[in-house]
Amino acid sequence: MADTGTLSVRDLGKTYPVGTGEVEAIRSISFDVRAGELVCIVGPSGCGKTTLLKCLSGLLSPTTGSVLLDGQAVLAPPEKMAVVFQEYGRSLYPWLSVRDNVGLPLKARGVPRDEREQAVRAALEEVGLGQALASFPWQLSGGMQQRVAIARAIAYQPEVLVMDEPFAAVDAQTRADLEDLVRRVWQDLGVTVIFVTHDIDESVYLGERVLVLSSSPTVVQEDLAVDLPAARDQISTRALPRFTELRTHVHEQIQHAKRGARTPLPRPTS
Ligand SMILES: Nc1ncnc2c1ncn2[C@@H]1O[C@H](COP(=O)(O)OP(=O)(O)O)[C@@H](O)[C@H]1O
Ligand SMILES: [Mg+2]
Repeated sequence: MADTGTLSVRDLGKTYPVGTGEVEAIRSISFDVRAGELVCIVGPSGCGKTTLLKCLSGLLSPTTGSVLLDGQAVLAPPEKMAVVFQEYGRSLYPWLSVRDNVGLPLKARGVPRDEREQAVRAALEEVGLGQALASFPWQLSGGMQQRVAIARAIAYQPEVLVMDEPFAAVDAQTRADLEDLVRRVWQDLGVTVIFVTHDIDESVYLGERVLVLSSSPTVVQEDLAVDLPAARDQISTRALPRFTELRTHVHEQIQHAKRGARTPLPRPTS
């Protein structure tokens, strides 16, 4: 497993100026992610998940605190990080083929054409779209477009893959397939994955660990290890009593947080 791709978030706070006042989106968040770990971040809508990811990926500067990637402060988007956003419709260029969309970040990095072509093909194979090289995004379904966005991120061979509610806009069946795709990519590439979702079941199904955020102004309500087997399956994993225990626990934790609590409920014993 990779020894690079560790993240440290230290006392991160973010306050947005709004008109003459301000909105404190994130009060103070601290956590560490080990290289090669898959961490889900779950929290109610508006609690600051996107704000946190923008700070993590250097798109926004935090008001207080810091983000360290392999010990170095993140002050701008780091080379070794790729981000997949929720709105795939807006993240792919409609006038570029799938091949060119996926190859774009590599081109920007100056990767020679042959090498680029190889990386693009391998990434599209990985997401099951080997046949779609010459298609245009608008010829593909929503789920396929999101797979193109994932292929673009992995072709880039990031050390950290950050995803912001990437499956919120796809149907349930496609979503299940894409969840399994994320776990497979994570296992195959050994990258660090930070996956943000408001879907509690998704966070428990995908994560090795789930960070539960409180309502805004946000803190980490709980840092929960997911002690489910590494080989996961949409049917059998979700049918495990332990899966039900964990998702119920996270659900109660979020309800607890919505009532304004700042201290966690006791953990379910395994
Ligand atoms: N650019 C901005 N300017 C002002 N307030 C913002 C901005 N972006 C987000 N917010 C506010 O910060 C809070 C957290 O938003 P966001 O990070 O988008 O939450 P989430 O992704 O969890 O739904 C919300 O109250 C939101 O209205
Ligand atoms: Mg968001």
